[in-house]
Amino acid sequence: MDQKLTEKIKKRYNRVSRIFNSMDRMIKESWREDLLKNVKGNVLEVGVGTGANFLFYPDDIHLTCIDFSPGMLKHARNKVNTLSLPYQVTLNEMDAQQMDFPDNTFNYVIATCVYCSVPDPVKGLKEMGRVCKKDGKIIMLEHMRSENEIVGKMMDILNPITVNTWGANVNRKTLDNINSAGLLIEEKDDLFYSIIRKLIVAPIK
Ligand SMILES: C[S@@+](CC[C@H](N)C(=O)[O-])C[C@H]1O[C@@H](n2cnc3c(N)ncnc32)[C@H](O)[C@@H]1O
Repeated sequence: MDQKLTEKIKKRYNRVSRIFNSMDRMIKESWREDLLKNVKGNVLEVGVGTGANFLFYPDDIHLTCIDFSPGMLKHARNKVNTLSLPYQVTLNEMDAQQMDFPDNTFNYVIATCVYCSVPDPVKGLKEMGRVCKKDGKIIMLEHMRSENEIVGKMMDILNPITVNTWGANVNRKTLDNINSAGLLIEEKDDLFYSIIRKLIVAPIK
């Protein structure tokens, strides 16, 4: 794992955390609602950010969240303290590339718009597979490089700007990364062309 790169991306998220809520208008609330409506039991959210998903979880879960950015976690903590959520939430400062949880811990592992910025995405995806129970599911909503070659090339050109200002890569080949992590994509819905996708992924058996 490239520790220097991890620190650099973490700093960028700390920097944008104050304005993140107003910046992040890319994901529709109805997509979050649809993604999370059926999760149950012991749930892990990786890269929780400012807690944009909190209002869309069912009532009867136990939610554990991680993020490596203290700045983003501060906003998530404020939300937990002000929203009176009907379920229990634990927030941890932790790197998705090296989680402290034992194998087979969670019924559901969630990530929304996270794998554009995890410095070593395959390592992070493997970790999600490790901590998810064998009969559990990994549920993701991610933006990725377009399969349209012209749009994909434009995303490649734009990528250095987004990484340097914000920390997010707009041209990640997330489906390839999931396959490289040894995880199995069971369902794939295109929400915005091939750029924003809902994915249901089975952990490593
Ligand atoms: C674009 S934001 C998305 C936040 C939230 N999931 C949402 O849907 O609004 C990406 C988040 O992933 C976190 N992140 C990126 N790499 C991470 C890593 N290696 N470990 C933990 N969190 C990470 C960032 O700090 C940031 O909060």
